[in-house]
Amino acid sequence: MIFRHTLSRRDAFLVLFGASTMHIWSVLTRQTVMGQSIVIDTQYHNHNIPLEPPNPPLDPFHIIKDLPPTTITETALVTETNIATSTIVLQPSSTPSAPEAHPPDIGRDFPHTSIISHAPGWTLFRNLYMSNGTLYILSSNRSFPEIRMMTSTGLEAFNTPENIASREPTAQNMDFITPEEAHKRWGGDLDRGEKNRVWSVEGNTLLFNDPGQFLRHYYHLVAELFFGTWAFWHGAWSKPTTSLAASYSLTHASPPPIHRAIFAHSNADGWRDSPGFNAYFLRAAFPSLTVEVQEDWADRIAATAGGKDNDRAWHFPIVLLTDRSAAHRGAICGSQTQRTASEAWEFMKQNNQLMGSRVGGWWQPVREAVWRFAGTPLTLDPVPSPDLPELSKAEDSLALPMPDKIIITYISRQGVSRRKLIPEDHDNLVLALQELVARKGDSWRLDILQAEKLTKDEQVQAAARTTILLGVHGNGLTHLVFMKPTRVSAVIELFYPGGFAQDYHWTSRALGMDHFAVWNDKYITHPTKPEVSYPEGFQGNSIPVHGPTVAKLIEDHIESKSQAP
Ligand SMILES: *[C@@H]1O[C@H](CO)[C@@H](O)[C@H](O)[C@H]1NC(C)=O
Ligand SMILES: *[C@@H]1O[C@H](CO)[C@@H](O)[C@H](O)[C@H]1NC(C)=O
Repeated sequence: MIFRHTLSRRDAFLVLFGASTMHIWSVLTRQTVMGQSIVIDTQYHNHNIPLEPPNPPLDPFHIIKDLPPTTITETALVTETNIATSTIVLQPSSTPSAPEAHPPDIGRDFPHTSIISHAPGWTLFRNLYMSNGTLYILSSNRSFPEIRMMTSTGLEAFNTPENIASREPTAQNMDFITPEEAHKRWGGDLDRGEKNRVWSVEGNTLLFNDPGQFLRHYYHLVAELFFGTWAFWHGAWSKPTTSLAASYSLTHASPPPIHRAIFAHSNADGWRDSPGFNAYFLRAAFPSLTVEVQEDWADRIAATAGGKDNDRAWHFPIVLLTDRSAAHRGAICGSQTQRTASEAWEFMKQNNQLMGSRVGGWWQPVREAVWRFAGTPLTLDPVPSPDLPELSKAEDSLALPMPDKIIITYISRQGVSRRKLIPEDHDNLVLALQELVARKGDSWRLDILQAEKLTKDEQVQAAARTTILLGVHGNGLTHLVFMKPTRVSAVIELFYPGGFAQDYHWTSRALGMDHFAVWNDKYITHPTKPEVSYPEGFQGNSIPVHGPTVAKLIEDHIESKSQAP
């Protein structure tokens, strides 16, 4: 029996082809030419860091601004984020302002803390302070999100009541300080020529509060932590729009640069995975990012603990604080997705600040930087014909181009130590896929990859050309974040029957791709979603799969999505 979500027509809406699309592709093509050389600049120039993007920001709406307003009919997921202890003062999201061009003068008055954007586990602050390991919100009032929704003790997470309690933040992790207290503690007597004892950490900082427990996995660092970070960072500086064209656009204004990432509870090994993809990703996507780890944070703590009368503080003009435990206290991550990134993504989506939400447009700068680093040829798929149905009648399923070639990439785990298919089932799956591709002719291709035998560059290149990514649940599927958006891009994840995990399901959908969970000869797709389950056999080497079911699923999926409705 096959559970199958018949592809229902989504509400019809405007699709914008023609000139605007040509413009998108021409912008992309130009970037191809420009993106030939990448210099890894690991040096950090400490002075005069521009807080503004080096070039005047592009108008993110230049492609679409002459079009009539449209309404997105997709229902945004509305959740309660149980945040406030009192009124939360957020800067109106319609007018996000870029970071100030110069650090404020903190000689006499300490700039007060404010919040640019907040979702559980993700808080973008202006003017946050740290002294002796405590993060300080400097304000004369306490109108801020609840501290436990912003941070935790940063300890490793286990599902026991004691451990859950031990991750609740204390006043040692984060606290409030009034301007008077701050002045008493860190301010010198300026009239007597003394200086205050606050130092600005100039530029824009990512402060990761999590231990190595999850950071050292490719999926968790790239497809969860940085995926969420980029959704939040991009969104916080984006002007909200409900334009449907914007939801399909890959070109948006660049957010301000990020200058440093601080892993406050992880040492240098703690954020690196053993295959080395995390470090590869970080250098490819953010070549100028300075990384500080636990030891550096300890230095900063030690440098401030001058004791009574000689206390110092660091001042962070712009800092995005991320905390896994706090994200899990949110309704979306905590009870629906278990993905910390989903709190960041959903928040920006609900606020209409997630540009290109149906094609991962917000993620495009990262995706593209990694493609270029890997030497991926950025050949682009054809532009959809302007003769497609009248704009007002077109379906959104036609808004994206079909790929030139349907490339099925099967990431085989048969060469690794666990979570493998039954050997004959693997063979039959390959046969069924080969038969499908042979029958379809030149415009289809099957790539069978063993990731462990490829270089990192080759793996990224393979992901970038993939239309259908197929494999047993595992880290190889994290590469889906480097797939190119097309009308039919999809991820097919093979599970031990009855098993399910959210990781690739949520991530695929967050990039606008379909996801199918296969249980031998059944498959399940949105809106049906099984409960998370790790039955006996989930991690084993006897996972069954019925090859012809998978081949038929792919054929049906491509067929149904490629046709005009
Ligand atoms: C709280 O204080 C900040 C400055 O520290 C100020 O910007 C904000 O308006 C105040 N909020 C309320 C509700 O008084
Ligand atoms: C700094 O924090 C530690 C706890 O981490 C505390 O024992 C110590 O008293 C603090 N020092 C000062 C000067 O507040």
